[in-house]
Amino acid sequence: MDTVGPEILILDFGSQTTQLIGRRIRDLGVYTEIIPGDTALDDAVLSGAAGSTLRGIILSGSPESVYTAEGAVPDKKVYTLGLPLLGICYGLQRMTVDNGGVVEALPKREFGRIGVMTTMPESEGSIRRFLASFDRTVRLNRIVDQPVSDGGPRFSKPGTKRAITAWMSHGDTLTRLAPGFQEYGVSDTGYPAVVAHETKPWFGLQFHPEVTHTERGTEILAAFVFGVCGCKKSWTMEQYVEEVRASLSARVGSNPVLLLISGGVDSTVAGALLLKTLDPDQVHLMYMDTGLMRKDETKTVKTALEQLGAKHLHIIYCEEEFLGALKGLEEPEAKRKAIGDLFITIQEREVARLGLPDSYFLAQGTLYTDLIESGKGVGKKAHLIKSHHNVGSPLVDAKRKLGRIIEPLDRLYKDEVRRLGRILGIDEEVVRRHPFPGPGLAVRILGEVTKEKCGILREADAIFIEELKKRRAPKKNISLYDDIWQAFAVLLPIRSVGVAGDARKYGWVLALRAITSADGMTADVYPFPVEALLEISTRITNTVSDIGRVTYDISSKPPATIEWE
Ligand code: XMP
Repeated sequence: MDTVGPEILILDFGSQTTQLIGRRIRDLGVYTEIIPGDTALDDAVLSGAAGSTLRGIILSGSPESVYTAEGAVPDKKVYTLGLPLLGICYGLQRMTVDNGGVVEALPKREFGRIGVMTTMPESEGSIRRFLASFDRTVRLNRIVDQPVSDGGPRFSKPGTKRAITAWMSHGDTLTRLAPGFQEYGVSDTGYPAVVAHETKPWFGLQFHPEVTHTERGTEILAAFVFGVCGCKKSWTMEQYVEEVRASLSARVGSNPVLLLISGGVDSTVAGALLLKTLDPDQVHLMYMDTGLMRKDETKTVKTALEQLGAKHLHIIYCEEEFLGALKGLEEPEAKRKAIGDLFITIQEREVARLGLPDSYFLAQGTLYTDLIESGKGVGKKAHLIKSHHNVGSPLVDAKRKLGRIIEPLDRLYKDEVRRLGRILGIDEEVVRRHPFPGPGLAVRILGEVTKEKCGILREADAIFIEELKKRRAPKKNISLYDDIWQAFAVLLPIRSVGVAGDARKYGWVLALRAITSADGMTADVYPFPVEALLEISTRITNTVSDIGRVTYDISSKPPATIEWE
């Protein structure tokens, strides 16, 4: 990535959604980089500015308060560079306090969807261009295409009030704006939600435009990036691929690379990137069939990798070992730990068996979200939510210490990885595959995991998925499967009475889950067509005789998680 300077720099103060800001802006075709919020803005960091590519800075949100010691402070230089600034949540509060305003704790934290009412200023200029993005009647391309020199597009009359629904998560509020700032939007709860400086190109939002729950969020970011900063669309996945491949070849040289494949989209795409960049003879792919995989998973992975030219594909069949380690365990964390530990044991044993020279590189299909969810975000300030066992292991840690870890997807989000997969020519069946957790069916069989339960769940899940692929989404020309972000079946640890012929029998209870999401960090329940749900349920109970009852999970994330565990 060293050949291009960012057009937009994001100062990360530790919000869970900082990466989303970057990703939305990259989706708009503008290259952006994220750096820790308190980084000294010296010439090296601002080299983009020297090369005149840097056009604006975004100050992210944070889990901290501006008035505590934990609340990171940006280099004061940020306010003297003459560049456009956008403060989001904590970023806005930071700009306010740093420039003489006041921020205080709210009586009650605000969280979730909240209405925001904005008012158009009288005069033309960047504030009008920015606020125009809140207007439902304005299409994104009008904001993007209108040259800044033209005074921007003409929108609804000055003084017109418009409302959007925005996503908020804050415990503090502005109680006095900094000198020079004016309020242009207020939340339903009566607090400042949109502010702008009267003479400098500085803007602030109390809500998160990067979160999909915010209406017109992308348009608002686009208005800042194009309308205020004057960026051009120039960042594409094709360009990203070229740069990653160049740096991969330079780093690896002729050393061997070992990639741990899980069967999911991420590691398959990472594998494709390695195979298409390096000599396939250098690339070793290791895959463990834990017995906790989806139906036909091993076959699908094997075919996809062979089609991509894999020469050294090591498939380790270890179902018995995993089921043995899980015997008698019911607690989710105990199950995760048993799987994680065994994974490491087998990994070390099998890697040693390969006999690669010490100089080998270890590759992983880690994504941005994996790093954020394990509290290892770019700014290293994201609060820890959960440890994913696939991010760390002694082998990974040792290789990391030696500087021999390759994570070519660690700047990408799931849908970007899919785009990359398509560019690399991976089979559409694999690219479109819904995400699957590392510990596999063990997190979808509640309570003890047995071979018999794995078999039941695998069959039921396969029917569910097959039906989703067969059926059209209402009013869309795509399948239900493609309309849904993630769908799967969960086997509950309860049995319930039913009738089979004349007899009463106890059958297992199965839950179906289908959600929509942008990245798995938040999720909404998929509004499943009831008719389809009824037919799928019937097919499952008719085919998998051990299942007596089917339910549909109607919980969003938060407060629920996607997996049941
Ligand atoms: P949750 O259940 O935390 O899931 O809302 C968010 C997304 O992450 C997947 N998931 C995992 N992926 N290893 C993984 O690689 C794991 O341990 C793991 N746990 C959950 C889950 O399927 C969803 O897409």
